[in-house]
Amino acid sequence: MTDLATETRRPETIAVSYEPERQPVLTVRDLHVAFSRGGRKIHAVNGLSYTLRAGRTLAIIGESGSGKSVSVRALMGLLPPSATVRGSALLGDTELVGMGDRAMRRIRGNDISMIFQDPARSLNPTMSIGVQITEAIRTHSDLDKKAAADRAVELLKLVRLPAPERRYHEYPHQLSGGMRQRVMIAIALAANPKVLIADEATTALDVTTQAQIMELLADLQDRLGTAVIMISHDLGLAASYAHEVLVMYAGQAVEHAETNTLFRNVRMPYTKALLGAIPQLTTAPHSQLTVIGGHPPDLAALPSGCPFAPRCNRATEQCRLDKPPLDEHEPEHLYACWHPYLPGTEDEPVPVDEEALS
Ligand SMILES: Nc1ncnc2c1ncn2[C@@H]1O[C@H](COP(=O)(O)OP(=O)(O)OP(=O)(O)O)[C@@H](O)[C@H]1O
Ligand code: SF4
Ligand SMILES: [Mg+2]
Repeated sequence: MTDLATETRRPETIAVSYEPERQPVLTVRDLHVAFSRGGRKIHAVNGLSYTLRAGRTLAIIGESGSGKSVSVRALMGLLPPSATVRGSALLGDTELVGMGDRAMRRIRGNDISMIFQDPARSLNPTMSIGVQITEAIRTHSDLDKKAAADRAVELLKLVRLPAPERRYHEYPHQLSGGMRQRVMIAIALAANPKVLIADEATTALDVTTQAQIMELLADLQDRLGTAVIMISHDLGLAASYAHEVLVMYAGQAVEHAETNTLFRNVRMPYTKALLGAIPQLTTAPHSQLTVIGGHPPDLAALPSGCPFAPRCNRATEQCRLDKPPLDEHEPEHLYACWHPYLPGTEDEPVPVDEEALS
């Protein structure tokens, strides 16, 4: 029997537990994002906090609509004008929340880069890939055209695109999906960013190409020391490549720990539901999130207590009245729950509260 936590493809890095000596590159504190739509306020991100350290990969997982993409787009100033962002996101010493457009454009691509799910749409179909990478390099440096073109070929080699000198002159439609994703990574790395965000970056690719791209990212990260945020529906990928995992629900972090700790010692009922019957999960790689009964809360009318209470079989009156804080209940293991699954109590039903489930 396999379990996700033992299927890591980077055991040497995963085995290194919390490394406080690694410099924090991104410190997110109490981040809130709300959208105004049709006279309603949609609270998409509600007090999200985490610290990302150099050379580490943080996976953010959660159901559709839990605020994963909005939370990272907020860091890059990529939200529409209907969004209000508050809280703090420090990139080194630089505050990203409230930053003006011009300053943000300098940060974007330079210090933080993003790889999107759909490279076909992100690349310009009318320009050769070499020219696109060269332009990205020139935007972020003072290299002349020739030096930037040489650097572009180097980057294509770095992302292991076959025959880089020839491919340099090709257009996006001449490349496979996996090759286009490599080009996107090359563009994202053009300025050697401190933080690389991959939002479902490999979802559109077949399983083998997905694994190759993830191996590539892991290798580049080891060599360049880039910090990575990966957003994925694929638990196998998160378990294999992330050093730590943050679980989001209704725009909040509800559990956050080292990958091995989280997959072996699930505490929060939502995480447990999301991961399925851990530790009996047998299909490690490419396991998708399980479908959980009930619906996520209305983000325009969030309950005052635990947002998971209406779907939780451990919910009590306390859960419906008071929101549990995200605390470090165990070393480097944070969770927000009044009745966590503690060792020896996994199968014990917690005080039945029929009213909470009605
Ligand atoms: N421009 C917008 N205006 C209003 N609401 C928005 C806007 N963008 C996102 N939202 C809402 O914010 C919430 C969080 O969306 P987000 O895209 O971050 O979810 P997600 O966790 O990335 O989901 P998925 O896994 O499907 O990508 C959703 O309820 C979504 O409808
Ligand atoms: S706080 Fe209560 S409702 Fe929320 S997850 Fe924990 S047990 Fe369930
Ligand atoms: Mg998303």
